[in-house]
Amino acid sequence: MAKRSIVLLLVFAMLAVVLTGCGQATGGKRVGVTMPTKSLQRWNEDGANVKKALEAKGYKVDLQYADNKQETQNSQIENQITMGCDVLVIASIDGGALGGVLEQAKKKNIPVIAYDRLITNTQNVDYYATFDNYGVGKMQGEFIEQALGLDKGEKGPFLMECFGGDPGDNNAYLFNQGAMDVLQPYIDSGVLVVKSGQTKFPDQIAITNWESKGAQDRMDNLLTAYYADENIDVVLSPNDSLAQGIVASLKSAGYGTASKPFPVLTGQDCDKINVGQIIRGEQSMSIFKDTRILADQVIAMTEAILEGKTVPTNATYNNGVKDVPSYNCEIKFANKDNWKELLVDTGYYQLSDIPGAQ
Ligand code: BGC
Repeated sequence: MAKRSIVLLLVFAMLAVVLTGCGQATGGKRVGVTMPTKSLQRWNEDGANVKKALEAKGYKVDLQYADNKQETQNSQIENQITMGCDVLVIASIDGGALGGVLEQAKKKNIPVIAYDRLITNTQNVDYYATFDNYGVGKMQGEFIEQALGLDKGEKGPFLMECFGGDPGDNNAYLFNQGAMDVLQPYIDSGVLVVKSGQTKFPDQIAITNWESKGAQDRMDNLLTAYYADENIDVVLSPNDSLAQGIVASLKSAGYGTASKPFPVLTGQDCDKINVGQIIRGEQSMSIFKDTRILADQVIAMTEAILEGKTVPTNATYNNGVKDVPSYNCEIKFANKDNWKELLVDTGYYQLSDIPGAQ
């Protein structure tokens, strides 16, 4: 009889641990994570990495994707507030359109971490974890400068067109600023010639929702209108989803031959398709933003917030109404020479993930 009671007691004790999440430092706290869309590779990885890393620490995670619609994301966040989330991690779509829902978070004292993209024009964002976004644009600009030998005094003139990201995404402004701070002097001196005259972000060069199709259509139009008789030498693309559309357009216009070589083309994210493009010589470079590092940083922030410790930060970003304490993760240059070392040797991808790499 005594033996049976001990067994029963043990069973109850184990059940209690499972049900309350006790035995874990986090006490089963819940984190609401919202991501913009499943349609681009990186956000799937971001969501999966953050969820996995939080769960490994014992947190419960509600992960939602919003099909690039801010209203959808706002109702997902509202649900997470109602469900009693203790922290909100938000990769926004239109960073300036979350004010209302974040008022509700504030009323319930739920801390908010902006993920990768800054949430603007509200007091109710506590921290921001991202990569060095201005640095991304600067790296792209400097790559073009070196690839064409502009820094060595090459005078060209080289024919260039510029693309920008989604106007609702604060990062898109920073990428553009970083690149143009390097390239604008060469445009001003006539070494780089933008035949369309379209250089202004967002008015002239933004691509809604960062869609490849939008970039492809714009590139088609530019090639038809301005490059019927001359080859284009350079395309500034802020990221890989745009670079995919640009390459599709260049291919259909006959680029990729000895008399019509692919132009110098930048990118960002090291999406699998784009690594394939780099291997085939269709895209010149990309920027590797290791989303595992960003996930770890967000977990470190979440833990520090919930344990009342100092939150790790190394930068601040002004969101229009306040300086948001932030953490900038490191970015890395990737091209045909180092993609394997950066992406495969570190276990970020399997070789078999990359089209054309086998
Ligand atoms: C991210 C980029 C990404 C783009 C499109 C930006 O906010 O920082 O890495 O390529 O959104 O999803």
